[in-house]
Amino acid sequence: MSKIPVVIDCDPGIDDSIAIIMLAGSDKVDIKAITTTHGNVGLEGTTKNALALREFLGLDCLVAKGAAKPMIVPLKNASEIHGANGLAGFELPQPQGTFEKDAAWDVMYNLAKKENGEMVLVVLGPMTNVALTILKYPDFKKYVKRIYMMGGSRLYGNHSPTAEFNIWGDPHACQVVLKSGIPVTMADLYFTYDNAVTGAEMKEIYSHAKKLKPMMDAFIAHDMKFAESVGADFDSHRIAICDSSAAAALLLDGDSLVTEDYYVVCETQSSENEGQTVFDYKGHLKGQTNVQLCISVDKEKYQGLIRDAVAHFE
Ligand code: BDR
Repeated sequence: MSKIPVVIDCDPGIDDSIAIIMLAGSDKVDIKAITTTHGNVGLEGTTKNALALREFLGLDCLVAKGAAKPMIVPLKNASEIHGANGLAGFELPQPQGTFEKDAAWDVMYNLAKKENGEMVLVVLGPMTNVALTILKYPDFKKYVKRIYMMGGSRLYGNHSPTAEFNIWGDPHACQVVLKSGIPVTMADLYFTYDNAVTGAEMKEIYSHAKKLKPMMDAFIAHDMKFAESVGADFDSHRIAICDSSAAAALLLDGDSLVTEDYYVVCETQSSENEGQTVFDYKGHLKGQTNVQLCISVDKEKYQGLIRDAVAHFE
């Protein structure tokens, strides 16, 4: 079976790294490029992390730098969650290689065109790069088979009452993507919470790491510190490895992934609800389905994907 050509658009990021490891460790996909965006930390940091991960994992793919800021809203970050370097303070070996001369949108477009409609995008951060590609290249949409994204929320938000961080980071970009006609599979906040692992499960899953062990140990220590700070017992505390759910959605699509179809728009006007993904449950807006919302997946298989991926790198 031929591998699925994939571009990972991301802001690594602890959970981005896990998603990248899952995709890199899978024989179902062929990672063509990692494109970077502002998000968890600034663009310089996310790009450095992407370059370092490419080398550490021995990936043969392009790395291209994208947008340093959102389309309209002010720049945000989540360094309080991921640490100042985005990787819980863990230092990967200094990368020797560099990023492409072409920007993320040009790289994404050219790769997608070459793959003739088979390209899949896995989007793990604010959607600025994808939106800019759509706006710059009106025919881009016909070359993209599907976007698997971590972002959005059918219920409450994690960085505002209703907005999930990635969408809050660039609501206008999300709206461009949702209106583009590119099919989207959305691993929203609820899906990632539903698939959260306990600290004990995380320790067991990451214990299979070989080369990646120091990195996984640093991620566990980081989460332990957080659990401690909220007075929770780590072993029973539930931790969502958010971005891994978009990777799981792709890898388990056609296996155990269950989705529901919705028409979704992104709120860009309201100060309180900016970045909310609005699910038109009752069809008031008369829009056409643009999102397959992830409802459930086989949790054993999902956790198995992470376990196998961390064990894959020797
Ligand atoms: C998302 O926000 C980021 O901090 C994570 O990397 C993930 O992409 C979860 O809301």
